[in-house]
Amino acid sequence: MSDNRTVVQVLDGSRIWPPPIWIMRQAGRYLPEYRQIRSTVSSFLELCYTPDLAVEVSLQPIRRYGFDAAILFSDILVIPDALGQQVEFESGQGPRLEPIDLAQLPDYDKDQVINHLSPVMETVSRLRTELPDETTLLGFCGAPWTVATYMIAGRGTPDQAPARLASLRDPSGFAQLIDLITDASIDYLIAQLKAGADAVQVFDTWAGVLSPGDFRRWSIAPMKKIVAGVRAEIPEARFIGFPKGANLNLADYVAETEVNGIGLDWSVPHDWARQTLQPTTAVQGNLDPMRLIAGGKALDAAIDTTLEGLGEGRLIFNLGHGITPETPVDHVAQLVQRVRAS
Ligand code: CP3
Repeated sequence: MSDNRTVVQVLDGSRIWPPPIWIMRQAGRYLPEYRQIRSTVSSFLELCYTPDLAVEVSLQPIRRYGFDAAILFSDILVIPDALGQQVEFESGQGPRLEPIDLAQLPDYDKDQVINHLSPVMETVSRLRTELPDETTLLGFCGAPWTVATYMIAGRGTPDQAPARLASLRDPSGFAQLIDLITDASIDYLIAQLKAGADAVQVFDTWAGVLSPGDFRRWSIAPMKKIVAGVRAEIPEARFIGFPKGANLNLADYVAETEVNGIGLDWSVPHDWARQTLQPTTAVQGNLDPMRLIAGGKALDAAIDTTLEGLGEGRLIFNLGHGITPETPVDHVAQLVQRVRAS
């Protein structure tokens, strides 16, 4: 049963104090035990597709810090991989994908995607068995816009200019790509929830480079379709949306997509979020990851500001974006301790 899982309780409508805490990218290179496992495999995707190892690295941050939620260890780029696009991760350089041609997109093949990703579902179901009963298990995928930016550029870029340009030069080809990723994401999230995830988070890391109109079209509309598509099969499915950089557009995103929780980055004013978002939605965030690297007073002050600014309503404590490899492990302990002592 999920009754005793605090992240689930907050998503379902309760205010919990002190707030539950987990951190985005909590399994990763800042942990020596992660680097040890990573050194035993030749490729990052092998780690994602080997349930023994993916379960182990998902559990590492839970053992070390006792976070209230575990997130499945995988990556948002397993969707392009499952769709047949070649994806590689060069160490220290980020992802490299073979360029795609919008004029020659494949038809969506559900069986291909689900078969390819079956090791991920095995990881989810084993995690649910191995995790403490009170720990929420989160599945995830990338939002169609953010996944499309990597599929088009073939790599990370500072401002996603290649995808923005493609969406302007060939809006119908680009819309087809968004639909393909949307269809795959719906089936993938349904499979994760059926395998035992308590909720799913959709990462739209690059939402902030879109104009309000483009944000409606390429971020809100596909997310609305994903939430509705998953809930058509699993009516109680819980969602956390994370359109990073969306700022004032978060209000429309929350109202239209009907997510249960909304991730905030550190640019979002607390007063505004409290008045506009929290009455209907749980908020998650929003500490600047640089503060976690800096530690000391810079960290403590920002923890207190978030607790004061958002703590009267439904809050899941988190960073405003993923933890980075430079972060000292002691600073993460300091964070957890201070939130729990509040
Ligand atoms: O602990 C967790 O949060 C679960 C695992 C997770 C990873 N990636 C593991 C990973 C999650 C939820 C992601 C999401 C993800 N992946 C996003 C959205 C969130 C965000 O941080 O913006 C994005 C944009 C990606 C794509 C991606 N994956 C990039 C750009 C990179 C290279 C940059 C980097 O951080 O190295 C990755 C690689 C990646 N994904 C690593 C990990 C632990 C590092 C690779 C390695 O260990 O060799």
